[in-house]
Amino acid sequence: MAYDLVVIGTGPGGYVCAIRAAQLGLKTAVVEKDKTFGGTCLNVGCIPSKALLHASELYEEAGHSFGKMGIKVGAPALDLPAMMKFKDEGVDGNVKGVAFLLKKNKVDAFQGTGRIMAPGKIEVKAADGKTETVETKNIVIATGSDVARLKGITIDEKRIVSSTGALVLPKVPAKLLVVGAGVIGLELGSVWRRLGSQVLVVEFLDRILPGMDLDVARNFQRILQKQGMTFKLSSKVTAIDSSGAALKASVEPAAGGTPETIEADVALIAIGRVPYTEGLGLDGVDVKRDNRGRVAVDAHLATNVPGIYAIGDVIAGPMLAHKGEDEGVAAAEIIAGRAGHVNYDVIPNVVYTYPEVASVGKSEEELKAAGIAYNTGKFPFTANGRAKVNMQTDGFVKILADAKTDRVLGVHILGPDAGNMIAEAAVAMEFGASSEDIARTCHAHPTLTEAIKEAAMAVEKRSIHM
Ligand code: FAD
Ligand code: NAI
Repeated sequence: MAYDLVVIGTGPGGYVCAIRAAQLGLKTAVVEKDKTFGGTCLNVGCIPSKALLHASELYEEAGHSFGKMGIKVGAPALDLPAMMKFKDEGVDGNVKGVAFLLKKNKVDAFQGTGRIMAPGKIEVKAADGKTETVETKNIVIATGSDVARLKGITIDEKRIVSSTGALVLPKVPAKLLVVGAGVIGLELGSVWRRLGSQVLVVEFLDRILPGMDLDVARNFQRILQKQGMTFKLSSKVTAIDSSGAALKASVEPAAGGTPETIEADVALIAIGRVPYTEGLGLDGVDVKRDNRGRVAVDAHLATNVPGIYAIGDVIAGPMLAHKGEDEGVAAAEIIAGRAGHVNYDVIPNVVYTYPEVASVGKSEEELKAAGIAYNTGKFPFTANGRAKVNMQTDGFVKILADAKTDRVLGVHILGPDAGNMIAEAAVAMEFGASSEDIARTCHAHPTLTEAIKEAAMAVEKRSIHM
Protein backbone atom coordinates (compact mmCIF):
# COMPACT_ATOMS: atom_id res chain seq x y z
CA MET A 1 0.00 0.00 0.00
CA ALA A 2 1.35 3.44 -0.87
CA TYR A 3 1.54 6.18 1.74
CA ASP A 4 0.96 9.88 1.14
CA LEU A 5 3.97 10.61 3.33
CA VAL A 6 6.83 8.69 4.90
CA VAL A 7 9.04 10.58 7.36
CA ILE A 8 12.55 9.24 7.92
CA GLY A 9 13.59 9.92 11.52
CA THR A 10 11.42 10.50 14.58
CA GLY A 11 13.19 13.33 16.38
CA PRO A 12 11.18 16.46 17.20
CA GLY A 13 11.18 17.36 13.51
CA GLY A 14 10.07 13.98 12.23
CA TYR A 15 7.47 12.86 14.75
CA VAL A 16 5.77 16.28 14.81
CA CYS A 17 5.68 16.32 11.00
CA ALA A 18 4.08 12.85 10.94
CA ILE A 19 1.42 13.77 13.50
CA ARG A 20 0.51 17.01 11.70
CA ALA A 21 0.30 15.15 8.38
CA ALA A 22 -2.00 12.54 9.92
CA GLN A 23 -4.18 15.31 11.39
CA LEU A 24 -4.54 16.69 7.86
CA GLY A 25 -5.74 13.33 6.57
CA LEU A 26 -2.54 12.11 4.92
CA LYS A 27 -1.78 8.40 5.18
CA THR A 28 1.50 8.63 7.05
CA ALA A 29 4.32 6.41 8.29
CA VAL A 30 7.64 6.97 10.04
CA VAL A 31 10.92 5.08 9.75
CA GLU A 32 13.21 5.01 12.79
CA LYS A 33 16.53 3.18 13.12
CA ASP A 34 16.78 3.46 16.91
CA LYS A 35 14.84 1.33 19.40
CA THR A 36 12.89 4.31 20.71
CA PHE A 37 11.23 7.30 19.07
CA GLY A 38 12.13 10.90 19.86
CA GLY A 39 15.57 11.26 18.24
CA THR A 40 18.51 13.08 19.76
CA CYS A 41 16.32 15.48 21.71
CA LEU A 42 14.36 12.97 23.75
CA ASN A 43 16.94 10.21 24.08
CA VAL A 44 20.35 11.89 24.41
CA GLY A 45 19.73 15.64 24.15
CA CYS A 46 17.23 18.16 25.47
CA ILE A 47 15.35 15.89 27.87
CA PRO A 48 18.13 14.02 29.73
CA SER A 49 20.30 17.14 29.89
CA LYS A 50 17.45 19.17 31.37
CA ALA A 51 16.73 16.42 33.92
CA LEU A 52 20.36 16.56 35.11
CA LEU A 53 20.39 20.36 35.04
CA HIS A 54 17.24 20.45 37.17
CA ALA A 55 18.45 17.89 39.69
CA SER A 56 21.98 19.31 39.98
CA GLU A 57 20.62 22.85 40.38
CA LEU A 58 18.46 21.77 43.32
CA TYR A 59 21.42 19.85 44.77
CA GLU A 60 23.55 22.97 44.66
CA GLU A 61 20.75 25.14 46.02
CA ALA A 62 20.15 22.76 48.91
CA GLY A 63 23.80 23.18 49.87
CA HIS A 64 23.93 26.95 49.46
CA SER A 65 20.71 28.89 49.85
CA PHE A 66 18.34 26.72 51.92
CA GLY A 67 19.98 27.79 55.20
CA LYS A 68 19.52 31.49 54.37
CA MET A 69 15.80 30.89 53.87
CA GLY A 70 15.48 29.18 57.23
CA ILE A 71 15.37 25.65 55.88
CA LYS A 72 17.67 23.47 57.93
CA VAL A 73 18.96 20.41 56.11
CA GLY A 74 22.25 18.63 56.61
CA ALA A 75 24.88 18.91 53.89
CA PRO A 76 23.24 17.30 50.84
CA ALA A 77 24.76 14.00 49.76
CA LEU A 78 24.90 12.90 46.15
CA ASP A 79 23.40 9.59 45.07
CA LEU A 80 24.53 9.66 41.44
CA PRO A 81 22.93 6.33 40.39
CA ALA A 82 19.59 7.60 41.76
CA MET A 83 20.01 10.91 39.90
CA MET A 84 20.73 8.98 36.70
CA LYS A 85 17.64 6.83 37.31
CA PHE A 86 15.55 9.98 37.75
CA LYS A 87 16.88 11.21 34.38
CA ASP A 88 16.29 7.83 32.67
CA GLU A 89 12.71 7.67 33.94
CA GLY A 90 12.10 11.13 32.51
CA VAL A 91 13.44 10.03 29.14
CA ASP A 92 11.41 6.83 29.23
CA GLY A 93 8.18 8.73 29.95
CA ASN A 94 8.84 11.11 27.09
CA VAL A 95 9.75 8.52 24.43
CA LYS A 96 6.72 6.43 25.40
CA GLY A 97 4.66 9.60 25.02
CA VAL A 98 5.79 9.90 21.38
CA ALA A 99 4.95 6.22 20.72
CA PHE A 100 1.49 6.86 22.17
CA LEU A 101 0.93 9.97 20.05
CA LEU A 102 2.00 8.26 16.82
CA LYS A 103 -0.39 5.39 17.54
CA LYS A 104 -3.21 7.72 18.54
CA ASN A 105 -2.83 9.53 15.21
CA LYS A 106 -2.69 6.24 13.29
CA VAL A 107 0.84 6.82 12.02
CA ASP A 108 2.47 3.51 11.00
CA ALA A 109 6.01 2.90 12.21
CA PHE A 110 8.79 0.95 10.49
CA GLN A 111 11.75 0.01 12.68
CA GLY A 112 15.01 0.08 10.74
CA THR A 113 17.35 2.23 8.69
CA GLY A 114 15.64 3.99 5.80
CA ARG A 115 17.36 4.32 2.46
CA ILE A 116 15.81 6.29 -0.39
CA MET A 117 16.02 4.03 -3.45
CA ALA A 118 14.12 6.41 -5.75
CA PRO A 119 11.61 9.23 -5.26
CA GLY A 120 8.61 7.48 -3.66
CA LYS A 121 10.54 4.36 -2.70
CA ILE A 122 12.27 3.69 0.63
CA GLU A 123 14.03 0.51 1.66
CA VAL A 124 13.89 -0.17 5.39
CA LYS A 125 16.59 -2.43 6.77
CA ALA A 126 15.85 -3.84 10.23
CA ALA A 127 18.54 -4.61 12.83
CA ASP A 128 18.36 -8.32 11.91
CA GLY A 129 19.19 -7.48 8.28
CA LYS A 130 15.69 -8.06 6.89
CA THR A 131 14.56 -5.47 4.36
CA GLU A 132 11.21 -4.26 3.12
CA THR A 133 10.25 -1.58 0.62
CA VAL A 134 7.79 1.17 1.43
CA GLU A 135 6.07 3.17 -1.31
CA THR A 136 5.00 6.75 -0.77
CA LYS A 137 4.00 9.88 -2.67
CA ASN A 138 6.19 12.11 -0.49
CA ILE A 139 9.27 11.72 1.68
CA VAL A 140 10.44 14.00 4.49
CA ILE A 141 14.07 13.59 5.54
CA ALA A 142 14.31 14.27 9.29
CA THR A 143 17.49 12.37 10.10
CA GLY A 144 18.94 15.04 12.38
CA SER A 145 22.55 15.51 13.37
CA ASP A 146 25.53 13.82 14.96
CA VAL A 147 28.43 14.93 17.15
CA ALA A 148 31.20 16.88 15.40
CA ARG A 149 34.59 15.24 16.00
CA LEU A 150 38.04 16.70 16.56
CA LYS A 151 40.67 15.42 14.17
CA GLY A 152 42.98 12.91 15.84
CA ILE A 153 40.87 12.58 19.00
CA THR A 154 38.79 9.44 19.38
CA ILE A 155 35.62 9.70 21.41
CA ASP A 156 35.38 6.47 23.45
CA GLU A 157 32.33 7.75 25.44
CA LYS A 158 34.11 6.69 28.66
CA ARG A 159 36.95 9.12 29.30
CA ILE A 160 36.78 11.16 26.09
CA VAL A 161 33.08 11.75 25.73
CA SER A 162 30.55 13.58 23.60
CA SER A 163 27.36 14.91 25.19
CA THR A 164 25.98 11.36 25.00
CA GLY A 165 28.71 9.97 27.27
CA ALA A 166 28.61 13.04 29.51
CA LEU A 167 24.96 12.24 30.30
CA VAL A 168 25.83 8.79 31.71
CA LEU A 169 29.14 9.19 33.56
CA PRO A 170 29.22 6.57 36.33
CA LYS A 171 31.08 8.82 38.75
CA VAL A 172 31.81 12.50 39.18
CA PRO A 173 35.14 13.26 37.46
CA ALA A 174 37.51 15.17 39.76
CA LYS A 175 38.71 17.17 36.76
CA LEU A 176 36.53 17.72 33.69
CA LEU A 177 37.99 19.32 30.59
CA VAL A 178 35.33 20.75 28.31
CA VAL A 179 36.31 21.52 24.72
CA GLY A 180 33.96 24.20 23.32
CA ALA A 181 32.15 26.95 25.25
CA GLY A 182 28.90 26.50 23.35
CA VAL A 183 25.54 25.38 24.68
CA ILE A 184 26.48 21.77 25.43
CA GLY A 185 29.80 22.67 27.06
CA LEU A 186 28.21 25.21 29.39
CA GLU A 187 25.09 23.17 30.23
CA LEU A 188 26.84 19.87 30.91
CA GLY A 189 29.88 21.65 32.37
CA SER A 190 27.45 23.26 34.85
CA VAL A 191 25.90 19.89 35.72
CA TRP A 192 29.24 18.29 36.62
CA ARG A 193 30.61 21.38 38.37
CA ARG A 194 27.53 21.43 40.61
CA LEU A 195 28.05 17.75 41.36
CA GLY A 196 31.67 18.35 42.37
CA SER A 197 33.95 18.45 39.30
CA GLN A 198 36.62 21.06 38.74
CA VAL A 199 35.64 22.27 35.27
CA LEU A 200 37.94 23.94 32.74
CA VAL A 201 36.41 25.05 29.44
CA VAL A 202 38.75 25.52 26.47
CA GLU A 203 37.25 27.66 23.70
CA PHE A 204 38.70 28.45 20.28
CA LEU A 205 37.20 31.94 20.05
CA ASP A 206 37.85 34.88 22.39
CA ARG A 207 34.32 34.63 23.82
CA ILE A 208 31.80 32.07 24.98
CA LEU A 209 28.47 31.26 23.26
CA PRO A 210 29.21 32.54 19.75
CA GLY A 211 26.06 33.87 18.08
CA MET A 212 24.56 35.13 21.34
CA ASP A 213 24.66 38.87 22.14
CA LEU A 214 28.23 39.65 23.26
CA ASP A 215 27.23 41.81 26.23
CA VAL A 216 25.12 38.91 27.53
CA ALA A 217 27.89 36.37 26.88
CA ARG A 218 30.55 38.45 28.69
CA ASN A 219 28.31 38.95 31.75
CA PHE A 220 27.32 35.29 31.71
CA GLN A 221 30.97 34.22 31.65
CA ARG A 222 31.66 36.36 34.73
CA ILE A 223 28.78 34.69 36.57
CA LEU A 224 29.95 31.21 35.59
CA GLN A 225 33.45 32.08 36.80
CA LYS A 226 32.01 33.23 40.14
CA GLN A 227 30.36 29.82 40.35
CA GLY A 228 33.77 28.19 39.95
CA MET A 229 33.96 27.31 36.25
CA THR A 230 37.26 28.27 34.64
CA PHE A 231 37.85 29.29 31.02
CA LYS A 232 40.72 29.27 28.60
CA LEU A 233 39.60 31.34 25.62
CA SER A 234 41.35 31.76 22.24
CA SER A 235 42.77 28.27 22.72
CA LYS A 236 42.45 24.89 21.09
CA VAL A 237 42.95 21.29 22.10
CA THR A 238 45.12 19.61 19.50
CA ALA A 239 45.57 16.15 21.02
CA ILE A 240 44.57 14.07 24.03
CA ASP A 241 46.87 11.32 25.30
CA SER A 242 44.77 8.68 27.05
CA SER A 243 47.56 6.16 27.69
CA GLY A 244 48.00 7.00 31.39
CA ALA A 245 45.73 7.11 34.42
CA ALA A 246 44.94 10.78 33.73
CA LEU A 247 44.16 12.22 30.31
CA LYS A 248 46.82 14.61 29.05
CA ALA A 249 45.44 17.26 26.68
CA SER A 250 47.68 19.44 24.54
CA VAL A 251 46.26 22.94 24.54
CA GLU A 252 47.71 25.74 22.46
CA PRO A 253 46.73 29.29 21.45
CA ALA A 254 44.08 29.31 18.71
CA ALA A 255 46.52 31.01 16.34
CA GLY A 256 49.17 28.37 17.07
CA GLY A 257 52.08 28.51 19.48
CA THR A 258 53.65 26.66 22.38
CA PRO A 259 51.35 23.92 23.66
CA GLU A 260 50.78 23.25 27.35
CA THR A 261 49.61 20.00 28.87
CA ILE A 262 46.42 19.94 30.90
CA GLU A 263 45.44 16.87 32.88
CA ALA A 264 41.85 15.72 33.27
CA ASP A 265 39.88 12.64 34.27
CA VAL A 266 37.25 13.15 31.59
CA ALA A 267 37.24 15.32 28.45
CA LEU A 268 33.93 16.43 26.93
CA ILE A 269 34.17 17.27 23.24
CA ALA A 270 31.40 19.80 22.51
CA ILE A 271 32.46 21.64 19.38
CA GLY A 272 29.16 21.49 17.52
CA ARG A 273 27.06 19.02 15.58
CA VAL A 274 26.99 17.98 11.93
CA PRO A 275 24.07 16.91 9.71
CA TYR A 276 23.46 13.16 9.66
CA THR A 277 22.71 11.56 6.29
CA GLU A 278 24.68 8.32 6.51
CA GLY A 279 23.13 5.39 4.69
CA LEU A 280 20.23 7.50 3.42
CA GLY A 281 21.16 7.01 -0.22
CA LEU A 282 21.07 10.70 -1.10
CA ASP A 283 23.75 10.41 -3.78
CA GLY A 284 21.80 7.69 -5.54
CA VAL A 285 18.80 9.99 -5.97
CA ASP A 286 20.85 13.17 -6.48
CA VAL A 287 19.50 15.11 -3.52
CA LYS A 288 21.68 18.22 -3.31
CA ARG A 289 23.58 19.20 -0.16
CA ASP A 290 25.30 22.49 0.69
CA ASN A 291 29.00 22.97 1.39
CA ARG A 292 28.50 21.90 5.02
CA GLY A 293 26.77 18.64 4.12
CA ARG A 294 23.29 19.90 5.00
CA VAL A 295 20.40 18.88 2.75
CA ALA A 296 19.62 21.91 0.59
CA VAL A 297 15.97 23.01 0.61
CA ASP A 298 14.00 25.93 -0.80
CA ALA A 299 11.63 28.22 1.14
CA HIS A 300 9.04 25.41 1.05
CA LEU A 301 11.42 22.87 2.62
CA ALA A 302 11.57 21.03 -0.72
CA THR A 303 14.81 19.51 -1.96
CA ASN A 304 15.81 19.63 -5.62
CA VAL A 305 14.08 16.25 -6.14
CA PRO A 306 10.27 16.51 -6.47
CA GLY A 307 8.45 14.76 -3.62
CA ILE A 308 11.44 14.84 -1.25
CA TYR A 309 11.49 17.40 1.59
CA ALA A 310 13.84 17.92 4.55
CA ILE A 311 13.52 19.49 8.00
CA GLY A 312 15.31 19.91 11.33
CA ASP A 313 19.02 19.60 12.13
CA VAL A 314 19.77 18.01 8.75
CA ILE A 315 19.05 21.33 6.97
CA ALA A 316 20.44 24.84 7.55
CA GLY A 317 19.47 26.99 10.53
CA PRO A 318 19.78 26.71 14.28
CA MET A 319 19.99 23.12 15.51
CA LEU A 320 17.09 23.42 17.91
CA ALA A 321 14.22 21.07 18.66
CA HIS A 322 11.51 23.73 18.36
CA LYS A 323 12.90 24.93 15.01
CA GLY A 324 12.66 21.32 13.75
CA GLU A 325 9.14 20.96 15.14
CA ASP A 326 7.93 24.11 13.41
CA GLU A 327 9.49 22.95 10.16
CA GLY A 328 7.78 19.58 10.65
CA VAL A 329 4.39 21.27 10.90
CA ALA A 330 5.16 23.52 7.90
CA ALA A 331 6.33 20.60 5.73
CA ALA A 332 3.22 18.55 6.53
CA GLU A 333 0.99 21.52 5.71
CA ILE A 334 2.83 22.24 2.45
CA ILE A 335 2.56 18.58 1.40
CA ALA A 336 -1.17 18.67 2.24
CA GLY A 337 -1.57 21.68 -0.06
CA ARG A 338 -1.71 24.31 2.66
CA ALA A 339 0.50 27.34 3.30
CA GLY A 340 3.02 26.06 5.85
CA HIS A 341 5.58 28.64 6.96
CA VAL A 342 8.33 29.16 9.54
CA ASN A 343 9.32 32.64 10.70
CA TYR A 344 13.08 32.24 11.10
CA ASP A 345 13.36 35.77 12.55
CA VAL A 346 11.57 34.69 15.70
CA ILE A 347 13.18 31.50 16.98
CA PRO A 348 14.01 31.63 20.69
CA ASN A 349 17.33 30.28 21.89
CA VAL A 350 17.81 29.19 25.50
CA VAL A 351 20.76 27.97 27.56
CA TYR A 352 19.37 26.10 30.58
CA THR A 353 22.13 26.92 33.06
CA TYR A 354 21.77 29.01 36.21
CA PRO A 355 21.08 31.76 35.50
CA GLU A 356 19.48 30.92 32.17
CA VAL A 357 20.32 32.75 28.97
CA ALA A 358 17.52 33.34 26.50
CA SER A 359 17.28 35.39 23.36
CA VAL A 360 15.07 35.96 20.37
CA GLY A 361 15.75 38.11 17.32
CA LYS A 362 18.88 40.07 16.59
CA SER A 363 21.91 40.70 18.80
CA GLU A 364 23.58 44.12 18.99
CA GLU A 365 26.43 42.80 16.84
CA GLU A 366 24.01 41.64 14.14
CA LEU A 367 22.19 44.98 14.08
CA LYS A 368 25.49 46.88 13.86
CA ALA A 369 26.72 44.66 11.05
CA ALA A 370 23.46 45.21 9.15
CA GLY A 371 23.70 48.99 9.69
CA ILE A 372 20.33 49.13 11.46
CA ALA A 373 19.98 52.00 13.97
CA TYR A 374 18.49 50.81 17.25
CA ASN A 375 17.68 51.95 20.76
CA THR A 376 18.52 49.85 23.80
CA GLY A 377 16.49 49.38 26.96
CA LYS A 378 18.16 47.46 29.78
CA PHE A 379 16.89 46.53 33.23
CA PRO A 380 18.85 44.56 35.86
CA PHE A 381 17.28 41.88 38.06
CA THR A 382 18.87 43.64 41.07
CA ALA A 383 16.05 46.19 40.67
CA ASN A 384 13.25 43.62 40.34
CA GLY A 385 11.35 43.03 43.58
CA ARG A 386 10.72 39.33 43.06
CA ALA A 387 14.32 38.59 42.07
CA LYS A 388 15.52 40.56 45.11
CA VAL A 389 13.36 38.74 47.61
CA ASN A 390 14.34 35.38 46.08
CA MET A 391 18.03 36.40 46.17
CA GLN A 392 18.29 35.66 42.44
CA THR A 393 19.54 38.99 41.17
CA ASP A 394 22.19 37.97 38.63
CA GLY A 395 21.54 39.25 35.11
CA PHE A 396 19.33 41.64 33.18
CA VAL A 397 16.81 42.04 30.37
CA LYS A 398 17.85 43.91 27.24
CA ILE A 399 15.46 45.03 24.52
CA LEU A 400 16.69 46.30 21.16
CA ALA A 401 14.16 48.36 19.23
CA ASP A 402 14.34 49.98 15.82
CA ALA A 403 15.41 53.62 16.26
CA LYS A 404 12.87 54.86 13.71
CA THR A 405 9.83 52.63 14.20
CA ASP A 406 10.37 51.33 17.77
CA ARG A 407 9.63 47.80 16.50
CA VAL A 408 11.28 45.20 18.77
CA LEU A 409 14.20 43.62 16.89
CA GLY A 410 15.78 41.54 19.63
CA VAL A 411 15.28 40.58 23.27
CA HIS A 412 18.04 39.13 25.44
CA ILE A 413 17.56 37.85 28.96
CA LEU A 414 20.25 36.69 31.35
CA GLY A 415 18.54 35.68 34.54
CA PRO A 416 16.42 33.23 36.50
CA ASP A 417 13.70 31.54 34.42
CA ALA A 418 14.81 33.41 31.28
CA GLY A 419 13.81 30.38 29.16
CA ASN A 420 10.17 30.71 30.15
CA MET A 421 10.16 34.49 30.02
CA ILE A 422 11.48 34.71 26.46
CA ALA A 423 8.12 33.36 25.18
CA GLU A 424 6.53 36.75 25.88
CA ALA A 425 9.14 38.45 23.71
CA ALA A 426 8.65 35.88 20.92
CA VAL A 427 4.88 36.46 20.87
CA ALA A 428 5.39 40.22 20.91
CA MET A 429 7.84 40.03 18.00
CA GLU A 430 5.62 37.64 16.03
CA PHE A 431 2.88 40.30 16.28
CA GLY A 432 5.30 43.06 15.26
CA ALA A 433 5.18 44.79 18.66
CA SER A 434 6.98 48.03 19.46
CA SER A 435 8.83 48.43 22.75
CA GLU A 436 6.03 50.80 23.75
CA ASP A 437 3.48 48.00 23.25
CA ILE A 438 5.37 45.89 25.80
CA ALA A 439 5.86 48.87 28.12
CA ARG A 440 2.11 49.57 28.13
CA THR A 441 1.10 45.94 28.72
CA CYS A 442 0.14 45.24 32.33
CA HIS A 443 2.54 42.69 33.90
CA ALA A 444 1.66 40.93 37.16
CA HIS A 445 3.45 41.99 40.34
CA PRO A 446 5.62 40.64 41.82
CA THR A 447 7.02 38.65 38.90
CA LEU A 448 10.33 38.46 37.08
CA THR A 449 8.44 39.42 33.90
CA GLU A 450 8.20 42.97 35.21
CA ALA A 451 11.88 43.24 34.27
CA ILE A 452 10.80 42.83 30.61
CA LYS A 453 8.28 45.64 30.95
CA GLU A 454 10.87 47.84 32.69
CA ALA A 455 13.45 47.10 29.96
CA ALA A 456 10.84 48.12 27.39
CA MET A 457 10.24 51.33 29.31
CA ALA A 458 14.00 51.85 29.47
CA VAL A 459 14.09 52.07 25.67
CA GLU A 460 12.58 55.53 26.14
CA LYS A 461 14.52 56.07 29.39
CA ARG A 462 11.41 55.98 31.54
CA SER A 463 11.73 52.86 33.66
CA ILE A 464 10.24 53.36 37.11
CA HIS A 465 12.35 51.17 39.37
CA MET A 466 15.78 52.30 38.27
P1 FAD B 1 17.07 14.21 15.67
O1 FAD B 1 16.45 14.53 16.96
O2 FAD B 1 18.53 14.09 15.61
O3 FAD B 1 16.38 12.88 15.16
C1 FAD B 1 16.77 12.23 14.02
C2 FAD B 1 16.26 10.81 14.07
O4 FAD B 1 16.44 10.21 12.81
C3 FAD B 1 16.99 9.93 15.08
O5 FAD B 1 16.06 9.26 15.89
C4 FAD B 1 17.75 8.93 14.21
O6 FAD B 1 17.89 7.65 14.80
C5 FAD B 1 16.87 8.87 12.98
N1 FAD B 1 17.53 8.46 11.75
C6 FAD B 1 18.66 8.99 11.19
N2 FAD B 1 18.93 8.41 10.01
C7 FAD B 1 17.96 7.47 9.83
C8 FAD B 1 17.69 6.55 8.78
N3 FAD B 1 18.45 6.49 7.68
N4 FAD B 1 16.63 5.74 8.93
C9 FAD B 1 15.83 5.81 10.04
N5 FAD B 1 16.04 6.66 11.02
C10 FAD B 1 17.08 7.51 10.92
N6 FAD B 1 17.54 21.64 21.37
C11 FAD B 1 16.66 22.46 21.99
O7 FAD B 1 15.85 23.10 21.31
N7 FAD B 1 16.64 22.58 23.35
C12 FAD B 1 17.49 21.90 24.14
O8 FAD B 1 17.44 22.02 25.35
C13 FAD B 1 18.44 21.06 23.52
N8 FAD B 1 19.32 20.36 24.27
C14 FAD B 1 20.22 19.52 23.65
C15 FAD B 1 21.13 18.83 24.44
C16 FAD B 1 22.05 17.98 23.86
C17 FAD B 1 23.03 17.24 24.73
C18 FAD B 1 22.04 17.79 22.45
C19 FAD B 1 23.00 16.85 21.80
C20 FAD B 1 21.14 18.49 21.65
C21 FAD B 1 20.23 19.36 22.25
N9 FAD B 1 19.31 20.10 21.49
C22 FAD B 1 18.43 20.94 22.11
C23 FAD B 1 19.26 19.99 20.02
C24 FAD B 1 18.12 19.05 19.62
O9 FAD B 1 18.31 17.80 20.22
C25 FAD B 1 18.07 18.92 18.11
O10 FAD B 1 17.97 20.20 17.53
C26 FAD B 1 16.88 18.09 17.67
O11 FAD B 1 16.90 16.81 18.25
C27 FAD B 1 16.84 17.96 16.15
O12 FAD B 1 15.71 17.26 15.78
P2 FAD B 1 15.61 16.45 14.42
O13 FAD B 1 14.23 15.88 14.40
O14 FAD B 1 16.06 17.29 13.31
O15 FAD B 1 16.69 15.27 14.54
P1 NAI C 1 27.96 25.00 19.66
O1 NAI C 1 28.03 25.29 18.24
O2 NAI C 1 26.91 25.62 20.50
O3 NAI C 1 29.36 25.38 20.36
C1 NAI C 1 30.56 24.82 19.97
C2 NAI C 1 31.67 25.67 20.54
O4 NAI C 1 32.91 25.01 20.29
C3 NAI C 1 31.78 27.04 19.87
O5 NAI C 1 31.90 28.02 20.87
C4 NAI C 1 33.04 26.92 19.01
O6 NAI C 1 33.69 28.15 18.84
C5 NAI C 1 33.85 25.95 19.83
N1 NAI C 1 34.88 25.21 19.08
C6 NAI C 1 34.79 24.70 17.84
N2 NAI C 1 35.93 24.03 17.53
C7 NAI C 1 36.73 24.12 18.61
C8 NAI C 1 38.03 23.63 18.93
N3 NAI C 1 38.72 22.89 18.07
N4 NAI C 1 38.56 23.90 20.14
C9 NAI C 1 37.86 24.63 21.05
N5 NAI C 1 36.62 25.12 20.81
C10 NAI C 1 36.07 24.86 19.62
O7 NAI C 1 27.90 23.42 19.75
P2 NAI C 1 27.56 22.42 20.93
O8 NAI C 1 27.66 23.09 22.24
O9 NAI C 1 28.35 21.20 20.65
O10 NAI C 1 26.03 22.12 20.65
C11 NAI C 1 25.60 21.56 19.39
C12 NAI C 1 24.22 22.01 19.04
O11 NAI C 1 23.26 21.46 19.91
C13 NAI C 1 24.09 23.51 19.11
O12 NAI C 1 24.02 24.00 17.80
C14 NAI C 1 22.82 23.78 19.84
O13 NAI C 1 21.94 24.46 19.01
C15 NAI C 1 22.26 22.41 20.19
N6 NAI C 1 21.98 22.41 21.62
C16 NAI C 1 21.01 23.23 22.09
C17 NAI C 1 20.75 23.32 23.44
C18 NAI C 1 19.73 24.27 23.92
O14 NAI C 1 18.95 24.75 23.11
N7 NAI C 1 19.66 24.57 25.19
C19 NAI C 1 21.49 22.52 24.41
C20 NAI C 1 22.52 21.71 23.81
C21 NAI C 1 22.72 21.66 22.46
